[in-house]
Amino acid sequence: MIQIVEAIASDSAAIEQLLDDRFGPARHARTAYRLREGVTPLGPLCVVAREGDRLVGSAQCWPLRVRAVDGACAKLVLLGPVAVAASHEGAGIGSALTQAALARADAGGFAPQLLIGDAGFYGRFGFAAGAGEAWHLPGPVDRARLLLRGDFEGLPRHGWLEADVPVSGRAAA
Ligand SMILES: CC(C)(COP(=O)(O)OP(=O)(O)OC[C@H]1O[C@@H](n2cnc3c(N)ncnc32)[C@H](O)[C@@H]1OP(=O)(O)O)[C@@H](O)C(=O)NCCC(=O)NCCS
Repeated sequence: MIQIVEAIASDSAAIEQLLDDRFGPARHARTAYRLREGVTPLGPLCVVAREGDRLVGSAQCWPLRVRAVDGACAKLVLLGPVAVAASHEGAGIGSALTQAALARADAGGFAPQLLIGDAGFYGRFGFAAGAGEAWHLPGPVDRARLLLRGDFEGLPRHGWLEADVPVSGRAAA
């Protein structure tokens, strides 16, 4: 039986192995990875699929912001990667993980959500391309794969999409 539960710290190694298996080691060069470099995931929004003791799926969430030219910042959540063990594909686990992470984000007021992925899969969960077309990202991105979900009317049209971490090098006020 598959269980979808919150990820715990000791899942880290199995999650990394799963991601290496599904995306390859070159995954670290992807723009989505650059967006979360050095960032701690949003623990309560990260879920895994377990079959007994084996981890067979994972969905992680990360804090992002869009920083406008005037310095104003609007928060959003990066969903991803979502990955399912090749041996367990097509059994609804990827959908269940995505829905569980989004339900947790919605319940906690973590919105809107963004991901870089296939609209063919993520459209069914409310993600769509279009918003964020003029944002700067820390690497190349296919804009048709830059997908948002939720109320993004308040986000700046122009700005930098980046990790929502304290800005270093500034003296505390
Ligand atoms: C994408 C992934 C998470 C889907 O997980 P899964 O457990 O196989 O998905 P589900 O069983 O919940 O859903 C399967 C459905 O999604 C569709 N689907 C799967 N991947 C898709 C894609 N890239 N584009 C469009 N549809 C896709 C299947 O055709 C199937 O459709 P159906 O329900 O109409 O038959 C999984 O295939 C995976 O880990 N892939 C490798 C990593 C990856 O590409 N992750 C996504 C980018 S972050």
